[in-house]
Amino acid sequence: MSNPSLLILPGDGIGPEVMTEVRKVIDWYGTKRDMAFDVSEDLVGGSAYDAHGTPLTDATMAKAQEVDAVLLGAVGGPKYDALDFSVKPERGLLRLRKEMDLFANLRPAQCFDALADFSSLKRDVVAGLDIVIVRELTSGIYFGEPRGIIEDGNERVGINTQRYTESEIDRVARNAFELAMRRNRKLCSMEKANVMESGVLWREVVTEVGKDYPEVELSHMYADAGAMQLCRWPKQFDVIVTDNLFGDLLSDAAAMLTGSLGMLPSASLGAPMANGRPKALYEPVHGSAPDIAGQGKANPIACILSFAMALRYSFDAGDEATRLEQAVEKVLADGLRTADLLGEEGAQPVSTAEMGDAIVAALDASL
Ligand code: NAD
Ligand code: IPM
Ligand code: MN
Repeated sequence: MSNPSLLILPGDGIGPEVMTEVRKVIDWYGTKRDMAFDVSEDLVGGSAYDAHGTPLTDATMAKAQEVDAVLLGAVGGPKYDALDFSVKPERGLLRLRKEMDLFANLRPAQCFDALADFSSLKRDVVAGLDIVIVRELTSGIYFGEPRGIIEDGNERVGINTQRYTESEIDRVARNAFELAMRRNRKLCSMEKANVMESGVLWREVVTEVGKDYPEVELSHMYADAGAMQLCRWPKQFDVIVTDNLFGDLLSDAAAMLTGSLGMLPSASLGAPMANGRPKALYEPVHGSAPDIAGQGKANPIACILSFAMALRYSFDAGDEATRLEQAVEKVLADGLRTADLLGEEGAQPVSTAEMGDAIVAALDASL
């Protein structure tokens, strides 16, 4: 049987830096666990624009459709701010999500004990936190029509449209209920049914899907109140399901419960392929971090934990995913910190590469 295939798209800014560390982890699994992957690498985002004049070529798109999983670093950066909207780096990522139909974006926020004092919230509030935000990823205001900037009389109007069909809500809700069934059987759905019709429909459909999952305790919350509750007492949640834009905002907020945006991985999952595994793209929640790019300061953990999610969801290797997560936990418990995880004056951060090497050493020690 051939090896499972993995397409790596490092992207821009710190994307290639954190991906170099993930490559060390992938190589470790090949040599030490006899889990070799057929890895290919390609361009996405600004780097693809520089080479090809487009943030994602058709050839790369086709390759992404064929592989068992895609792993992406990050896209974007100030260098590309002035580009036409249609070729901005972010369009490359959005095209991947849309054309692969990756409708369910799982964004776990887990607070490792070693970092509980580092969060901007009190230890009690975050210690032991383990929640997952399921963000709808292929519809809503990110993709709704009409959109654009139009002339209206003597001024311009910027337009985006929030639009959800029943089936789009149904499929992401089912995904979230299934996840809740494998966890603590608690699901909170967030929208703004008080002001948006799409929110009214969202609430109705999620409630309807909930009838198929009577064991799951379902609650509904307005997304603004949800943002407040995430900061007040996040441990009240287990799984949260929400739309594309609210999920984007709420997951960045949830990142700070874990200590740093550099800690949050994600899995974007679509419908099952012929092999029964979902079509999938794994990526950290953070962006290309232009303020620290090229300085060896980036925290590679979010990207490494995204590969752990790939082991779990695409490669049927839940035990190996746990091994990798425990290796991360161990280096943090040993006190290793990249700069984003250090608050105190005078504390010495480790570099991106040192953090990657330490995680590989912890993997070695796990054997
Ligand atoms: P960002 O996530 O890149 O950075 C926000 C802050 O978090 C910065 O101070 C940055 O230094 C820090 N940070 C992020 N990741 C880190 C890591 N791994 N280690 C240490 N510190 C880290 O968000 P931004 O600055 O708003 O956006 C920059 C660019 O990235 C924009 O072009 C944006 O569109 C893009 N972006 C891309 C993705 C993606 O590719 N999935 C996600 C978010 C933003
Ligand atoms: C994310 C990012 C993306 C989003 C951008 C880069 C398209 O912020 O993955 O969270 O808005 O979805
Ligand atoms: Mn985001």
